[in-house]
Amino acid sequence: MVADEPTTALDVVTQARVLDVLKKYTTGKNTPALLFITHDFAVASELCSEAVVMKDGDIVEQGQIHKIFASPKHPYTCELIRAARAATVEPYIEKLQAEDRAVQAPGHPIFFDIGGVSRAYPMPRKRPFTQREMKVALQSTTLAIAAGERIGIVGVSGSGKTTLLKILLALDSTDTGGVACDGKEVFPADIRELKWYRRRVQYVPQDPASSLHPFMTVRQLVAEPLVRLKVPGDRDQAVREALESVGLDEKFLSRRASELSGGQAQRVAIARAIATKPDFLIADEPVSGLDLPMRESIVALLTRISDERGTGIVVVSHDLSMVASMCHRTVVMHGGEVVEDAPTAQLLTAPQHPRTRELLAAIPTLHILPQALVAAES
Ligand SMILES: Nc1ncnc2c1ncn2[C@@H]1O[C@H](COP(=O)(O)OP(=O)(O)OP(=O)(O)O)[C@@H](O)[C@H]1O
Ligand SMILES: [Mg+2]
Repeated sequence: MVADEPTTALDVVTQARVLDVLKKYTTGKNTPALLFITHDFAVASELCSEAVVMKDGDIVEQGQIHKIFASPKHPYTCELIRAARAATVEPYIEKLQAEDRAVQAPGHPIFFDIGGVSRAYPMPRKRPFTQREMKVALQSTTLAIAAGERIGIVGVSGSGKTTLLKILLALDSTDTGGVACDGKEVFPADIRELKWYRRRVQYVPQDPASSLHPFMTVRQLVAEPLVRLKVPGDRDQAVREALESVGLDEKFLSRRASELSGGQAQRVAIARAIATKPDFLIADEPVSGLDLPMRESIVALLTRISDERGTGIVVVSHDLSMVASMCHRTVVMHGGEVVEDAPTAQLLTAPQHPRTRELLAAIPTLHILPQALVAAES
């Protein structure tokens, strides 16, 4: 059986189920052999006994997986092991506990005030002329998010995360309840009168390759929100500043989106989002299309932008390590409801709700010896 990145786009709970099925059908007598292709050493270590490490079309290392872990030889293998370690949550817990919780300090102004918001979608009719059933995607959700806060929203597939983000972005309307931004009403209100809101709240997409127009230049792409939202001031200057913040130099200005790598495209998408100097960035799975080392650099970039500019971030992710590394607070959703809402360190170390525990238990663990980590880090 050949499996090519079969779990990359899945949430951790579903991933654990798929891995279990693969394990069941490929271990024991008279079962097929498994060739499992992945960029995640932790997942490989759950399933496989042998590993082959490839880079730029060449095999750089191969052998029994526990031996490779014990003493990785090639620098690229070390990098992959280090990245897999960073993709688990343990390294972040201590850091989070030590960190100053200033953002949660009472008196910090509320930026988003989400009050009793629900949303249901009509399902396709089962038979002609029958009543449509409604699918409840979000049930009376109440959430307050402080200015400058970084908040993670996690949960299995279909739990209502994207629905909540779409409402925060004013791209969808609510059935009940309302959203206020900095004391001003966003919902219920006329969705066409929201230029002020769109300047203050910007979106970072999951898949920049499909959200950036392939024929537009980087200059046009980053300037577009400034033009559309009629932001006053020197546009060229604002574009250059935004590009500099994401670590791209001037020669990118004339490149077209189709000529960018995945990581560069995500940087351009982030530059586009910060060009209007928003108070909040809203990101839905911003790194899930990238490999592990690239993920780390984008997470570091978002964190730095947030720290330097005081920009708050609401991020949806299947990847708890991403949330653990950057978010002050984490909200767990299930069946359209918020089931747990706590400071991230507390949520990771003392999860209260069974759904939170299920998510944490499903994170692939790196079956790895401490000396290998030391070798990988040096
Ligand atoms: N436009 C729509 N029409 C019908 N049903 C919808 C629509 N949008 C979302 N849903 C349903 O609402 C529920 C919540 O969807 P949502 O996209 O918010 O989940 P999610 O938590 O973002 O999932 P994922 O992790 O897979 O992205 C799902 O059951 C989905 O099928
Ligand atoms: Mg979603």
